[in-house]
Amino acid sequence: MKNRKYILKERPRGEVGLQHIEMIEEEVPDIRKGEVIIKTRYISVDPYMRNRMNDVKSYVPPYDLNGLLGGDATGEIVMSKCEEWKVGDLVCGSFGWQVYAKIKGKRLTRIDTSMGDESAWLGILGLTGLTAYFGLLQLGQPSAGETLVISGAAGAVGSIAGQIGKLYGCRVVGIAGSDKKVSYLKDALGFDEAINYKNYPSIRKPLKNLCPSGVDVYFDNVGGEISDGIMYLINDRARIVLCGQIAQYNEGRIPTGPRLNAQLLVHRGRMEGFIVYDFINQFDEARDALSNWYKERKIIAPESIAKSFEMIPHAFLGLFKGENQGKQLVSLI
Ligand SMILES: NC(=O)c1ccc[n+]([C@@H]2O[C@H](COP(=O)([O-])OP(=O)(O)OC[C@H]3O[C@@H](n4cnc5c(N)ncnc54)[C@H](OP(=O)(O)O)[C@@H]3O)[C@@H](O)[C@H]2O)c1
Repeated sequence: MKNRKYILKERPRGEVGLQHIEMIEEEVPDIRKGEVIIKTRYISVDPYMRNRMNDVKSYVPPYDLNGLLGGDATGEIVMSKCEEWKVGDLVCGSFGWQVYAKIKGKRLTRIDTSMGDESAWLGILGLTGLTAYFGLLQLGQPSAGETLVISGAAGAVGSIAGQIGKLYGCRVVGIAGSDKKVSYLKDALGFDEAINYKNYPSIRKPLKNLCPSGVDVYFDNVGGEISDGIMYLINDRARIVLCGQIAQYNEGRIPTGPRLNAQLLVHRGRMEGFIVYDFINQFDEARDALSNWYKERKIIAPESIAKSFEMIPHAFLGLFKGENQGKQLVSLI
């Protein structure tokens, strides 16, 4: 059997492009006891993969040069030397951007389609949904009546976090990069207000109009100038959840913004970063809650699904151009 996979051809300095990614073919390796071969079906592309292309120490190791790219995927077991798994089982795990993955059986999660569709295991029931859930509830600690602002609101994590905020009785205001996304947030996902940041040189004033009572919780997916504008609107005891900083991932040098720490000081605010794996011991209970909301249609899990293996690099690069609405996946089926 031949495998096709994407490797990191060159480390990007600044903006990532197709020139940094290469597709290669190789033989599918033999497996040993305890291992399986998976044929991938849905592949997740995520902003954090850009950071793993840099040769820097982080919470996950960088990709090796000429090494496999990618992260989570779903797939079907097509060969097994592992007692726990049989051919035909549907699983998810870190298979990377490849058609066939060899992996140890103990590193697989069984997909239970009674909890949600297969693709949802990479979205609302995967790291995306878990990130929204723990970031908002554990760090944001929202209360009914509070104003919750979300940047990257029409993206994978943001769209789920906003809807959880609504379930907790917040007034939810989303920031996104197109008028179409703004309408989607309000009409389909039930956000109270939304704003297209690309229509304004600074969102500080227009956002102030949408948040007459100030901002109690800010769920930050993007950082940069959008976050600078929001910091001037925070209330006393505001919680700022540092989930992601996508506006900076393609920056060669991080630009210095206004000094905003005084805002935190004066308002006794709390800004806290997190990595979803901090909550790994609570993943099962969170997944149950997310699955119930999803099945009861209390939360919609939007997806953008590109078709075919060839589309993987394009779908990934599209994340940085705002091409996705909800979770960006690539389907190989
Ligand atoms: N802490 C954790 O454990 C954890 C886990 C998962 C994800 N994250 C982070 O959470 C954030 C959201 O992740 P996701 O998977 O849901 O991705 P996502 O929001 O679906 O990512 C793509 C979106 O980001 C927006 N974007 C791209 N470049 C931008 C820029 N320069 N300025 C402002 N917005 C920009 C675009 O939307 P617009 O059209 O609105 O611009 C785009 O559609 C990312 O920063 C990610 O790294 C953190």
